[in-house]
Amino acid sequence: MNLIRLVPMKILVTGGTGYIGSHTVLALLEAGHGVVVLDNLSNSSKTSLERVQELAGREITAFEEVDLLDRSGLDDVFSRHRPDAVIHFAGLKAVGESSEKPLWYYTNNVSGTVNLLWAMEENDCRTIVFSSSATVYGAPETMPLTEKQTMDAQNPYGRTKEHIEDMLADLAASDDRWAVALLRYFNPVGAHESGRIGEDPSGIPNNLMPFVAQVAVGRREKLMVFGDDYPTPDGTGVRDYIHVVDLADGHLKALDRISEDPGVHVWNLGTGRGYSVLEVRDAFHKASGREIPYEIAPRRAGDAAVSYADPSAALAELGWSGDRDMDTMCRDHWNWQKNNPHGYDG
Ligand code: WQD
Repeated sequence: MNLIRLVPMKILVTGGTGYIGSHTVLALLEAGHGVVVLDNLSNSSKTSLERVQELAGREITAFEEVDLLDRSGLDDVFSRHRPDAVIHFAGLKAVGESSEKPLWYYTNNVSGTVNLLWAMEENDCRTIVFSSSATVYGAPETMPLTEKQTMDAQNPYGRTKEHIEDMLADLAASDDRWAVALLRYFNPVGAHESGRIGEDPSGIPNNLMPFVAQVAVGRREKLMVFGDDYPTPDGTGVRDYIHVVDLADGHLKALDRISEDPGVHVWNLGTGRGYSVLEVRDAFHKASGREIPYEIAPRRAGDAAVSYADPSAALAELGWSGDRDMDTMCRDHWNWQKNNPHGYDG
């Protein structure tokens, strides 16, 4: 089992006001690290950061409202703060939108990351934990998914993650001072047990759990179940849901590991357990006590029937596993949603 690092570091967190970013900033503060948050606030609220500092009982070092496309702004942040490492969340992440606006996704996600890597290189900061996604696997038949599965993303968003993983692997191969963790998340859900921070999607949620939560709290009339004719036990899509607090912990363990062991490392962050859409709906009804009416709708283009992780590498190499179960995920997601029916600035 990994010891939590005793030597505090100064970590720059891009996208640190977002859903996974804010939960990771909280975990970093609680572990005694110094944290600089960089965000352009295009898809998140600074309110999350105020609440994170309340929960941690200590402050971040600084908040920098900078866009990754602002190269000089990035250089200025790095030269002023001199971070030891970067955890990189910032990026656009809507699969459907990425097919409508591929150039914006490549510009924002890939070019933005190139700018970030230049700023790191030029300021002697070569340790990075990257927020990747199981979406890089595409829709393979064989389950569970291991890190050896070839990447075959099926949409522009997934391809931006794939290209960034390749860039980071090339960088690490060219200069052994680089320490890289590529973390492939499965389906992040849940919230900190306090209910003070959580997922706050703008507009109509694309993802299942926030949509179900908004039905439960009365913001949406009913859940549309995208297909019940998949080759699964109840015919609905099966996914590997991972609690966001477990996910945040995975980032700290990955940071500790690569700080001692540079080069490029890839880890799936999932539980290894799949749940169907209807199982999630039932679990959320149980956790909230609220009715979750639903209707069967046609399949959503690009959806795989089944996707779940083989998380054994993260357990063996990081001493990490996603232990919070579906009931906890729904309890915590509901606790956030019922206390914040319209999100942070609703
Ligand atoms: C889960 C299941 C849907 C909504 C996506 C991205 C992935 C990652 C996680 C960023 C599927 C069904 C959903 C709804 C439904 N994001 N569903 N009704 O598609 O597995 O992964 O989010 O990294 O990149 O691809 O997650 O939550 O959208 O869907 O029936 O209103 O719920 O068909 O079976 P997905 P999801």
